[in-house]
Amino acid sequence: MRTQKWVVREHMEGVPDVERVYEKVVEDIEVNLAPDEMLLKTAYVSVDPYLHGIALDTPLGDHMGADSIMEVIAAGPLAAHRVGDLVQGFGGWRTHVISTGAETLWQTGTFPMVFPSYRRLDPRWYDEGLPLPTALSAMGGPGMTAWGTLTKFMAVGPGDTVVISGASGAVGSLVGQLAKLSGARVVGSTSAAWKADRLIELGFDAVVEYRHGDGADKVRAALRRAVPDGVDKYFDNLGGAFTDVVFSLLNVGSQVAVCWQWATQVGRETVGPRLLPYIMFPRATIRGVFSLEWFTERNWQDLHRDLGGSIRRGEIVCDHTLHHGFENIPAAYGSLYRDRDRDRGGRLGKVLVEL
Ligand SMILES: NC(=O)c1ccc[n+]([C@@H]2O[C@H](COP(=O)([O-])OP(=O)(O)OC[C@H]3O[C@@H](n4cnc5c(N)ncnc54)[C@H](OP(=O)(O)O)[C@@H]3O)[C@@H](O)[C@H]2O)c1
Repeated sequence: MRTQKWVVREHMEGVPDVERVYEKVVEDIEVNLAPDEMLLKTAYVSVDPYLHGIALDTPLGDHMGADSIMEVIAAGPLAAHRVGDLVQGFGGWRTHVISTGAETLWQTGTFPMVFPSYRRLDPRWYDEGLPLPTALSAMGGPGMTAWGTLTKFMAVGPGDTVVISGASGAVGSLVGQLAKLSGARVVGSTSAAWKADRLIELGFDAVVEYRHGDGADKVRAALRRAVPDGVDKYFDNLGGAFTDVVFSLLNVGSQVAVCWQWATQVGRETVGPRLLPYIMFPRATIRGVFSLEWFTERNWQDLHRDLGGSIRRGEIVCDHTLHHGFENIPAAYGSLYRDRDRDRGGRLGKVLVEL
């Protein structure tokens, strides 16, 4: 059987050059499944900023890991799923996967992560109102990150000012809309004017244009206009100068969720002002967000009911940018870093590839 996969050929710090980092490998394999193994065909793969770290930690020559939706096309008698089942799991940038679907340890440089076992997607949960690709967006990791933060850590309510950096993406756009539904005033950052327009359409009260590299003075001037009463809740996707300024605007009792730090991971910015003095007077609480902690059956059901229900009712919109074809996976991933203008194929919401 002929299969294809994208392997990592080079470890590249900073903004990745996908032409150099990834190489397509075509293989003819013989499929001899163990009793507990499955042969799965990939239907959709997700491209996410955190793949930056995954690529750096992938041994050269190994396939690129990533979240995906797969269909079981053959299964041993003891396999966890049956032929015809659709599952979501960390299948990677591969046309086909042979796996038991069991959880997998991923030992990164900093601390170990466990990718959960493949999750069967109940076909009754997906229809026109919540199409299948949402299993990788609002009804998947990004949705769990947004909904989990707002239901399990950040208590957002009327009167709050909520700021979200990197708000045009899969996670930030959901956080903003959920916070808006809770009655808060919501302010986001994005680098492009047309994305700012879209965020306003989605209900954001104000949008600050910010791109990594912008100086603190410019950010401060823009944020002072957007949040004249300070910041009660901050959801941070970016770090960098934007975050530095937000810390100086925190109100008493504020909460900060650290979801990612683009500035450090990709921008390689490791020095900045000392931020801890800014949390003492406002008695702010800062919490790292790591969505895998919320990947439980109970939470998936609650996510479908709560966030899924809001999407079905049209209260929340989940934007997707869909690319097509196995060949285009690295380019789709590269678009997270480069195609930042609509004219150059810019994107909004969750970026996916349909195979
Ligand atoms: N901790 C966790 O458990 C967890 C879970 C899921 C995701 N994450 C992380 O959370 C972040 C958001 O995820 P996502 O799925 O929403 O990603 P996404 O859809 O790619 O969105 C990323 C956001 O970052 C902004 N951005 C990217 N490069 C930028 C730059 N150079 N300067 C300024 N803004 C930039 C983009 O804004 P514009 O293009 O509009 O400027 C976009 O709004 C990612 O970094 C992801 O790795 C963490």
